Amino acid sequence: LWLAVGIRRRQPGEPAVENGFIPYLGCALQFGANPLQFLRSRQNKYGHIFTCKIAGQYIHFLCDPFSYHSVIRQGRHLDWRKFHFATSVKAFGHDSFDPRHGHTTENLHQTFLKTLQGEALPSLIETMMGHLQDVMLRSDTLSPSKDHWEVDGIFAFCYKVMFESGYLTLFGKELGEDKCQARQTAQKALVLNALENFKEFDKIFPALVAGLPIHVFKSAYSARENLAKTMHAENLSKRENMSDLISMRIILNDSLSTFNDVSKARTHVALLWASQANTLPATFWSLFYMIRSPDAMKAARVEVQKVLQDSGLTVDPSDPTLNLTRDQLDNMPVLDSIIKEAMRLSSASMNVRVAKEDFLLHLDNQEAYRIRKDDVIALYPPMLHYDPEIYEDPYEYKFDRFLDENSQEKTTFYRNGRRLRYFYMPFGSGVTKCPGRFFAAYEIKQFLTLVLVVGCLPTIESKKTLRTQTQCGLGNVGFVEDLTEGGREQRRVIYY
Ligand code: HEM
Repeated sequence: LWLAVGIRRRQPGEPAVENGFIPYLGCALQFGANPLQFLRSRQNKYGHIFTCKIAGQYIHFLCDPFSYHSVIRQGRHLDWRKFHFATSVKAFGHDSFDPRHGHTTENLHQTFLKTLQGEALPSLIETMMGHLQDVMLRSDTLSPSKDHWEVDGIFAFCYKVMFESGYLTLFGKELGEDKCQARQTAQKALVLNALENFKEFDKIFPALVAGLPIHVFKSAYSARENLAKTMHAENLSKRENMSDLISMRIILNDSLSTFNDVSKARTHVALLWASQANTLPATFWSLFYMIRSPDAMKAARVEVQKVLQDSGLTVDPSDPTLNLTRDQLDNMPVLDSIIKEAMRLSSASMNVRVAKEDFLLHLDNQEAYRIRKDDVIALYPPMLHYDPEIYEDPYEYKFDRFLDENSQEKTTFYRNGRRLRYFYMPFGSGVTKCPGRFFAAYEIKQFLTLVLVVGCLPTIESKKTLRTQTQCGLGNVGFVEDLTEGGREQRRVIYY
């Protein structure tokens, strides 16, 4: 009977099971409503590991950070590729990248490392810096008219600036665009359209990961396909200054895979999504928390000024142009901490592995649990990030949480007096750790630096004061505190 209704019974040696009350969905709704609260309550009831049925899948949640190691290291029982490749196929609709499925012989993991890390970074950084400044200071993305102020939400501001800059950095610009006004306008429309399609698709991403078919979501499906159309080979061939990530993708799709044209275009959509979906919110939260904390603002400004001074860089207010090398960006521990702390509070991605066979999972406390083949084992980083024994006052934003007593990166965190190996995981862990994490940190730092240097951010001033200051020619991005909406404090960005 248990088998007939698709309910699992706990076998000896297995973690406790919650099947939930709803057929197929199991605990999905409770989990989805507040994952942290849901997992904490089960942890209190069952201990370090327990199993929940979520959307037809049995997931073992491992909650003891000292036992994370047994999942994160590449054990012979766990498969990281299965879940990742299958998720990408479900969400983006391309053929599988798993060489075992026979559509490609590419080692995708290697491609990512080669095109996003090490020697690939300096040119990504330089190109991004150029685009950030074009978008923020020169183009009309933010403000079509130069003679009056635009006021926008900080969220919209971050999305527009980072999306356009990131898009152009990865996918390049259309050939000859610089010389033709009409082409420039068309390109601008293409990128803004891509942002709208991206947002429409991104909304339903968690549902796709949970296993719902994309056809249920008509507008998200057409948004994804619209994006794919712009990324067909004949369109991409008209672009110049593409990143290695995309130009290698084109070459390897053509040489090592049997993907058809639609599938190839969808692989580019997958990369667009991977490069933006986490970066945009991380940028927003970094800026949001930074401008709300006077101490963070002060420390950030001192750090940026020092880096500029040490490198002999000055910014001309009438034509602010700034180039920061990788070394200079590496020398900004305060901005690093500001960003890390924002991501500690805001990131919520799960780390997942699939059992290749029945095996015994050994925990740090010497307990061992039986895991069945094809079961999923998940780590949920917010359980670490909000653990008061690791991070004091975990709900508070402390900009210097990741700085040590010498104001350098802090890397030692403890729980119950024991040093933790894993304490910060917004980028995942082990072999599946985000390959774009270094570039992501650089681009957010570049954005914050620009806002601090060429923006007009002495403090968050009233709109009137800010106008006066900015009209003195100090810069063209500022933040205002607006008390107009029902007396509630609103922060907005203002620029021309
Ligand atoms: C994968 C986070 C920015 C490219 C991932 C994963 C996470 C993540 C959690 C999955 C890891 C796992 O499953 O264990 C983030 C965050 C970012 C960010 C928080 C920004 C703050 C970027 C950027 C790029 C990028 C800027 C590229 C330009 C990728 C790729 C993968 C990935 C290609 C798939 C790797 C694979 O399946 O092997 N990212 N990411 N990410 N990320 Fe990022």
